[in-house]
Amino acid sequence: MCIRHRRKTPEDTREEKHGTGKIQERRHSSDEEEINRVKQSCRLFYSDDPVKIVRARGQYLFDENGQRYLDCISNVHHVGHCHPSITKAAAAQMDILNTNTRFLHDNIILYADRLAATLPEKLCVFYFVNSGSEANDLALRLAQQYTQHQDVVVLDHAYHGHLMSLIDISPYKFRKLAGQKEWVHVAPLPDTYRGMYRENHPDPGQAYADTVKDLIEEVHSKGRKIAAFFAESLPSVGGQIILPHGYSAKVAEYVRSAGGVFVADEVQTGFGRVGSHFWAFQLEGEGFCPDIVTMGKPMGNGHPLACLATTAEIAGAFTANGVEYFNTFGGNPVSCAVGLAVLDVIEKEDLRGNAMRVGAHLKDLFTKLQMRHQIIGEVRGVGLFVGIDLITDREKRTPATETAAQLVKRLKEEDKICVSTDGPWESVVKFKPPMCFSIEDAELVAQCIDRILTG
Ligand SMILES: Cc1ncc(COP(=O)(O)O)c(C=O)c1O
Repeated sequence: MCIRHRRKTPEDTREEKHGTGKIQERRHSSDEEEINRVKQSCRLFYSDDPVKIVRARGQYLFDENGQRYLDCISNVHHVGHCHPSITKAAAAQMDILNTNTRFLHDNIILYADRLAATLPEKLCVFYFVNSGSEANDLALRLAQQYTQHQDVVVLDHAYHGHLMSLIDISPYKFRKLAGQKEWVHVAPLPDTYRGMYRENHPDPGQAYADTVKDLIEEVHSKGRKIAAFFAESLPSVGGQIILPHGYSAKVAEYVRSAGGVFVADEVQTGFGRVGSHFWAFQLEGEGFCPDIVTMGKPMGNGHPLACLATTAEIAGAFTANGVEYFNTFGGNPVSCAVGLAVLDVIEKEDLRGNAMRVGAHLKDLFTKLQMRHQIIGEVRGVGLFVGIDLITDREKRTPATETAAQLVKRLKEEDKICVSTDGPWESVVKFKPPMCFSIEDAELVAQCIDRILTG
């Protein structure tokens, strides 16, 4: 969205020069109120003092005065802002051809093959789309078509996209709107720091999975049936949560025995962000495989490219309804060339290795800060997906929302470091930088946070 201010008319100017100024004042104040109202639905980072970025490279952003900012949050610009290999691949393919999937083209085949190599064998059908929302909307369609059931279980505080179908399954959004649809059921967020089962529980994975089992039984008791369980492999909007071990595998078992499918939303977490694995769901272990995986943000390094991977069986049921699936831009030769280039850079520059090394160092630095600053309740994360949970007291774990906001503001103003907050109380300072983030960047961030929290 873009709000254009009304241009001054000659009457306005005359009124300004010769009039009482009253009409002008009234007009401006009502315009401004209206604009402020509209702005509420489309927010800028640092709305009190927004930044105008005019170029970027790697993990750095530059404003119109040439001021450099360290970007700790752009998980979309996965291999680094404006990476020359990606620009080159896009421009080269743009120069030759850009059509759609109604014509044969090698790029889509090559790209699907490369993605397939990162996933368990049974996820062998790929639908290319333009955004994470499109991928999740399609996942919902596929799940409902395949199971012939309607209901969906989601995690509390989850966000799965901006389409109406996804607002319906995103508690983070629907709680502020008309509310929960009767076919949507919310399971507790498996947060072992603040949730109902914490780090001292002998098996939080099983305990949280059992909350889903109970929920499914409740759904059945109402005569309804589960089509899908949707969850981010690492709930990000929920506050950079690391799912307890065993949770996903158990939930998948319960959901499948209810006739539903397990959808892993990897829109934020995929493409090696966790370092040790290509997909965050793989942290659960070799034996675990979702039925549908959705991916987006980092996939095109800023180019609108997203995808859904699923099994032949689920795709077959979708095809069987006789309704054609066509997506005008999804899977076009340019998008696939960009996707291939992103995969090449991840490999060539060992960005997963970097995520592991730098992510571990960042966590280590933050854990040291936790010993010095009572306000840091927990440091959690894996690879370059890290969160610092700020609290006002360690026993009650009360979220320190105001301090988190102040920290974000001061890091930007004093140190030119961009971070932001997440979690139900916006008290978790999150780090999801481009994957080229360096050890020096990590040290700078930790030093600045230390200085601000000390002050
Ligand atoms: C976990 C998750 N899923 C889906 C989406 C929707 O993706 P998009 O904005 O590309 O439609 C988002 C976007 O923030 C997201 O964070």
